[in-house]
Amino acid sequence: MQISPRLVLIILLIAAIGAAAISFLLLPSRQQTVGLFLPDNPEYVSLGKRIYRENCSSCHGVNLEGQTADWRTPGPDGKLPAPPHDETGHTWHHADEVLFNITKIGVAEAANLTNYESAMPAYEELLSDKEIIAVLSYIKSTWPEDVRKRHDDLNQQIQDQKSR
Ligand code: HEC
Repeated sequence: MQISPRLVLIILLIAAIGAAAISFLLLPSRQQTVGLFLPDNPEYVSLGKRIYRENCSSCHGVNLEGQTADWRTPGPDGKLPAPPHDETGHTWHHADEVLFNITKIGVAEAANLTNYESAMPAYEELLSDKEIIAVLSYIKSTWPEDVRKRHDDLNQQIQDQKSR
């Protein structure tokens, strides 16, 4: 059978449209986040939001705004107030693993500081690892796109260093 060039073109066109449709369906709309947290996973984010309201908002603020505007200055007890977890704070300056450890075992233990008194409780006995990841995933999900991207880059750097 003689196949006309026109038919070949039509077949190629259909194949190309099919391939484009499949890759559109398979690729996530934004680049996958890097690290331990799952800020694009609705189940983790909604669980995390509930945990945040119940365990963290009393100090870090319902809207992640921190304890006081002056959160860089220690209070009368010599301890620092709870910093904001939104993009104005420095939570996003720390990679996932550091944030996870601070929440699980406490600031002094996570940073290997002896003689450091912190008002931040350790959640080891209160929350499971999954719940800690969920609450930090919720926090990350509230950051603007550029901050999330910078935080992904930081996680990537740490991963690259480890794999060297
Ligand atoms: C009793 C008050 C209090 C509660 C409740 C609390 N925090 Fe904190 N948190 C603090 C304080 C104070 C700091 C600053 C500690 C320091 O630097 O000494 C802090 C620091 C942090 C940091 C480090 C942030 C940074 O920028 O370095 C993380 C992460 C954190 N908290 C997560 C949480 C999470 C998640 C919860 C809830 C599960 C929570 N905190 C509940 C008081 C609290």
